[in-house]
Amino acid sequence: MVTQQIAAPLNTHASGHPGATADALVIFGITGDLARVMTFHSLYRLERRGLLQCPIVGVAVNDWTLDHLRDHARECIAATGETIEPEVFDRFAARLSYVSGDFTDAATYTRVAAAIGSARLPVFYLEIPPFLFGNVVKHLRDAGLTATARIVVEKPFGNDQASARTLANELHEYVDESQILRIDHYLGKMGLEEILYLRFGNTLLESVWNRNYIESVQITMAESFGVEDRGHFYDPVGALRDVVVNHLMQVVAMAAMEAPSGGDPETLKDSQLALFRAIEPANPEHYARGQYEGYRSIDGVAADSTTETFTALRLNIENWRWSGVPFFIRAGKRLPVTQTELRLVFKEPPRLGFGLRSATSEPDQFVVKLDPATGVQVTLVAKRAGIMTAEPITLDMEFAEQGGEGATPYEVLLQAAMQGQTMRFTRQDGVEQQWRIMQPLLDAPPPVHPYAPGSWGPKEADQLLHGHGQWRGPWIVK
Ligand code: BG6
Repeated sequence: MVTQQIAAPLNTHASGHPGATADALVIFGITGDLARVMTFHSLYRLERRGLLQCPIVGVAVNDWTLDHLRDHARECIAATGETIEPEVFDRFAARLSYVSGDFTDAATYTRVAAAIGSARLPVFYLEIPPFLFGNVVKHLRDAGLTATARIVVEKPFGNDQASARTLANELHEYVDESQILRIDHYLGKMGLEEILYLRFGNTLLESVWNRNYIESVQITMAESFGVEDRGHFYDPVGALRDVVVNHLMQVVAMAAMEAPSGGDPETLKDSQLALFRAIEPANPEHYARGQYEGYRSIDGVAADSTTETFTALRLNIENWRWSGVPFFIRAGKRLPVTQTELRLVFKEPPRLGFGLRSATSEPDQFVVKLDPATGVQVTLVAKRAGIMTAEPITLDMEFAEQGGEGATPYEVLLQAAMQGQTMRFTRQDGVEQQWRIMQPLLDAPPPVHPYAPGSWGPKEADQLLHGHGQWRGPWIVK
């Protein structure tokens, strides 16, 4: 296994006051796409649940009035299909104020300071391109606003290992690592958290969740929609960077890490880090890339683009729990369904001395469905009346039927940011490990193969599983 140098342990002396509730939320880029699609809606839902407690200051270059911002917020919330309750919206709208200004102009930050007034624990949420992060945080620091602040940033955290480190170094010039909250919205998903509870809350599961019983692990993130109007963003990025080196590595972490020995955020992240460290650098020989037909005619996509819209790869984890168990990951756009799941495929049992297994019998499988809803499914074999052989049966449970679906990821994460629950955010050493694992795939990508929209990607993805059966599922609730 190739080892590479990873950043030294980070300074964890908190000045972001973990656990303390924010007294102002400042959103840079409030007129942008993320706010339009996610932020206003999530904040509105938090307001409805009585969980918003502070003023909200929007900052953007647009020359808008506060009334314009409020109207825009209402339209954005309505566009998500949410029913707007007038008194909830009024409460939410009353929290809003707006600072118009250039992010590179010191005067903008003077106005931000005035807008947050006497707030001592502001959260600065940077919904802006990463190349602006350093500059904005420097200005905030120069304006004396960062000493006790938390800074929330959105992916991408670099586009390879070196740039991830450069980005973090730049931020560390002005704020401490403990003040930086990196959003990976998968960390706000109910299903992801559920994996850890299922594993370690159940002797039945934990005792077989290892290489003695599991043959392979499959993670599928299928999306039936395409890149649509995101060509400018997507084409320089591709599926590996867009959803694997972040979202799906979080799924790997939850599925494979050891039980954290304590409930504090650092212990949990240490456990994840230990797992990442045990993952071998990915091998380009076990990596398939696909591009759906028609992708190149999307606005913002190069006519000769070789960006992958489908990716499939194999990871090996060299530790006592997982050695010899391949983790297969596939993710793609324009696939037959929209579904994300984790699937454990168990070893085949020996021949049944007393009876027959059907020729079509499946190995036992345990599935945790993460999207679009959460649930678990177990596939076993059983003898049914009138049939001579043992046949596959499934036991399913949708979480919505047993206690309801949780809040949306952005509600969870915005609330966590405001309360200083750092557990929900990725730490820089984990980010660097994820890039370390994927770096060989970025350095030597295999050719991209076309696939028909609505198919399961190129055949090269199937060849990846050679010797380990086939891609299974995903489990679709009929
Ligand atoms: C985003 C990616 O981070 O995650 C998108 O940029 C992807 O391309 C999305 O579609 C998937 O998230 P979710 O929560 O809808 O599965």
